[in-house]
Amino acid sequence: VIDISKLYAGSKMFTYDPGFTSTASCESKITYIDGDEGVLLYRGYPIEQLAENGNFLETCYLLLYGELPTAAQYEDFASRVTRHTMVHEQMNRFFSGFRRDAHPMAVMVGTVGALSAFYHDSLDIADPFQRMVASIRMIAKMPTIAAMAYKYSVGQPFVYPKNSLDYTANFLQMCFSIPCEEYKVDPVLSRALDRIFILHADHEQNASTSTVRLAGSSGANPFACIAAGIACLWGPAHGGANEAALAMLQEIGSVERIPEYIAKAKDKNDPFRLMGFGHRVYKNYDPRAKIMQKTCHEVLTTLGIKDDPLLDVAIELERIALHDEYFIEKKLYPNIDFYSGITLKAMGFPTSMFTVLFALARTVGWIAQWKEMIEDPSQKIGRPRQLYTGATRRDYIAVEDRV
Ligand code: ACO
Repeated sequence: VIDISKLYAGSKMFTYDPGFTSTASCESKITYIDGDEGVLLYRGYPIEQLAENGNFLETCYLLLYGELPTAAQYEDFASRVTRHTMVHEQMNRFFSGFRRDAHPMAVMVGTVGALSAFYHDSLDIADPFQRMVASIRMIAKMPTIAAMAYKYSVGQPFVYPKNSLDYTANFLQMCFSIPCEEYKVDPVLSRALDRIFILHADHEQNASTSTVRLAGSSGANPFACIAAGIACLWGPAHGGANEAALAMLQEIGSVERIPEYIAKAKDKNDPFRLMGFGHRVYKNYDPRAKIMQKTCHEVLTTLGIKDDPLLDVAIELERIALHDEYFIEKKLYPNIDFYSGITLKAMGFPTSMFTVLFALARTVGWIAQWKEMIEDPSQKIGRPRQLYTGATRRDYIAVEDRV
């Protein structure tokens, strides 16, 4: 047994909390979650009201600055974002260095990290003006880079931003227009995607946000910190769950096979989990999942998709799980990722782009949290402790004497 107090002479006592299930890493005024009641507030505003009445850019302003913008503030903010939508032409070379079949998330990690090499001024994070410019650059360039990652994956030419369009419509045209054809953004789909972006904008200290804060706590370049957040988001237990949830629905394939998969999810000896179900904080219905379900129906109706077998499987799976003892006892409800895959697929995005869209929307949350941390006078470099369980002190043995 190791006497930790001797190993860490002079250190204070610390808690051991694997997965940080009950450890607050910071104070924050940005996002509030009541997991038992299924409540999510951005700066005090319920997510339902923002998703119904607001737009993504004003949500960005709210998350960054704490208040909803006045009309003049909104106009100024939107025009600043619009002015920064282009990326340096040299960025194209980063894309062409990737294998054609690279996962767009791998491309995102690399190319967003590469932005740090273009904006040296953003390294001066002690300057509030530079922090503001870095935030605007990040929010503005993310749709351009995400659309470039998509275009690269399908072998089409990159499409430049069109500043006459709003934020989300511009993203759609960068993804789906091709030089040889006229492309018109469907306002219903654009509004639906804008709402999806609002739902994903922030979610307090989840794994990727904590990653951004931890990386940023050393004073690292903000673009590199966001790239670290993207890397973390990619995992199937986090942002990658939307891709995994759709793959699961496709694998189940028909309503008749649902009981087989429910049984697998309940089997302790089977690692299978229902993707898009369960949440570390929500022990009630994820409020974002409800809005996402409604948005999913709206999108399918707009596109004239009457019978989507995947939607049938999803609705029935949800119905069965919500009445099943196992899921009730463990408080497992659909999360935001359960319906987002069906919606994004119907809009024309391939599954490999789902987590990219999540990263695009979450960028504002990451940058707002980063900014809040940098501006907090009590901020210190993040440095968790560990519970050492390795060997006690021992002496070096020459190789010829080892047995
Ligand atoms: N299907 C079946 N059983 C589940 C599921 C699931 N989706 N989720 C949790 N459980 C069970 C676990 O097996 C565990 O059972 P036990 O107590 O008998 O061991 C219990 O519920 C608690 O699960 P934990 O993994 O300890 O809960 P945790 O809070 O660590 O995990 C997580 C939350 C990772 C989201 C988990 O529910 C999961 O893996 N879900 C599927 C992936 C997913 O949808 N992720 C998206 C999350 S939302 C987001 O990131 C945007």
